[in-house]
Order: sequence, then structure tokens, then C-alpha cells
Amino acid sequence: MIEFKNVSKRYGESKTAALAVDGISFTVPTGTLTTLLGPSGCGKTTTLRMIAGLESPTSGEIWMADKKGLPENVTHRAAHERNVSLVFQNYALFPHMNVLANVGYGLKMTGVSKSDAKSRAIEALKNVGLVGFDDRLPSELSGGQQQRVALARALVLEPAVLLFDEPLSNLDAQLRRAMREEIRNLQQRLKLTVAYVTHDLVEALAVSDHIVVMDHGVIAQMGTPQEVFEQPKSDYVKNFLGEAAMLRDDIDRFLKWQK
Ligand SMILES: Nc1ncnc2c1ncn2[C@@H]1O[C@H](COP(=O)(O)OP(=O)(O)OP(=O)(O)O)[C@@H](O)[C@H]1O
Ligand SMILES: [Mg+2]
Repeated sequence: MIEFKNVSKRYGESKTAALAVDGISFTVPTGTLTTLLGPSGCGKTTTLRMIAGLESPTSGEIWMADKKGLPENVTHRAAHERNVSLVFQNYALFPHMNVLANVGYGLKMTGVSKSDAKSRAIEALKNVGLVGFDDRLPSELSGGQQQRVALARALVLEPAVLLFDEPLSNLDAQLRRAMREEIRNLQQRLKLTVAYVTHDLVEALAVSDHIVVMDHGVIAQMGTPQEVFEQPKSDYVKNFLGEAAMLRDDIDRFLKWQK
């Protein structure tokens, strides 16, 4: 569905500037969720923005399925020509519009009638478990509820590809766990094709079909969560996993101590 072929990205004009993304190749199969995982500055957002068409690659090609499901070279297609929705970390809801208007807005822009936009917005809100909030303003919602509105707003457009950039990082730990389960359930129920960015290994293990571990613009390893977790191929990946393993040890110790 999404395929990167040897894609590189350099910001700015300088030919000597470091590559933010350095010759990466990977695929996100239709109906699956792939996570781009790695520490700050490794190139996750840059990669996601290239899928969305908000940045163009310096070299390489990006392919996506067209409406008939056939592969199409979209490397030079503008963002609005791609059937893709992006959910940001900071929701970016319209503060002066109520929940229903926020979710229906994108549909109205594409020429859907007012009443259709309304019924589809209600359906999308139901999908994210947000019923009875239609008239509230974003400022009258909790962080988790705002995030659900943002999710509904992306879903309502029925994009072929849904992109998430650290969507849960503004939420507290408990809500983060609940929301990542919801995103995963929704993705599986609606068979969505998703590219998901996080620097949180536990989150990646919980939601992904495939994980792409990035390191300074290159791919350190990719595979299923189990493959990456059980067979880390380099010290870099081992170190990255090590922190989560240590967390696991801490939790076990805490539980023993509690008894
Ligand atoms: N608009 C820009 N202009 C110049 N350099 C940029 C720009 N955006 C990102 N970079 C650089 O490209 C590299 C990759 O950045 P990117 O935002 O993709 O990282 P990231 O993995 O998303 O990090 P984080 O986890 O902090 O969000 C970094 O070195 C960053 O400084
Ligand atoms: Mg980022």
C-alpha cells in the first residue's frame, strides 16, 4: 500500500548538510499498522511527512496504491492529491467550533451536503466512543476526549492511509494505555492502513503489526514486534530495547515488594 524505495531527505539548500533520512526502504501493507520507532531526531516525523506529501524526498521514490489498488508513483504528488489523513500530537482542533462541527468540517470542504456531513460525523464520533459531546467546545473537553475528536475528524474522511505522529504523548500514562488499545482496535475493525510514529517501545509493541526501528535517518531493523524484541540485530536496537526490559524488571520488583 505504501512503499518507500531508497528515500533520502536533506533539509535546506546545502549539499553538505546531514541527511534527515538516508536511503530508507520499507513497505506498509494494506490493512496493517506499521510503527516508525526511534529516539528524538532519528527522522520519524520527516518520514511521515513525506508519506503525507508535506515534504518531498531529495532522492528515491514513494509508491502508494491508487483508487483501484494498483501501485502508483506518488513521489511528486501534492498533499491534497494523496488520500491520506494525519493526526498530530497537538490535535489542532478549531477552538471556536463545537465537536460536531470540528469533525464535519473536512467533509463540508469537500462538498458533502450539510446533512450527510452531520450523519457521517456522528458515526465517526460513535466509532471513537464519544457520544453526547456534540455541542461542546474543545476547551470543555479533557485531553483524551480532544484526542478522540481529532481521531474522529481524520476517520470521517475515510482516508486510504491514516498517519499518526506521537498522538498520545500529551496524555497521562493511564489514558495513553487506553487510547492505544482503542486505536489498535479501531484499526483492526475498520482494516485501516496506518503509519504510526512513536519513541515509546512499549506503545510500539502494543499497537504494531510491523516495527521499523530508525537510527540517525537509517533503518536499524524492521520486523514484527516479536522479531524485533526477541532478535535485536545490533547493539543500538539492544540498547533501545534494554530500557524497556529494565522497566519490566522494575515493575516485577515493585509487584513483589507490594506483596
Ligand atoms: N524543517 C527542518 N529544517 C531543517 N532540519 C530539520 C527540519 N525538520 C527536521 N529537521 C532535522 O531532521 C532530523 C530529523 O528530524 P525529525 O523531526 O524527522 O525527527 P523525529 O524522529 O521526528 O524526532 P522527535 O522524536 O524529536 O519528533 C533532525 O536532525 C532535525 O533537526
Ligand atoms: Mg517527530
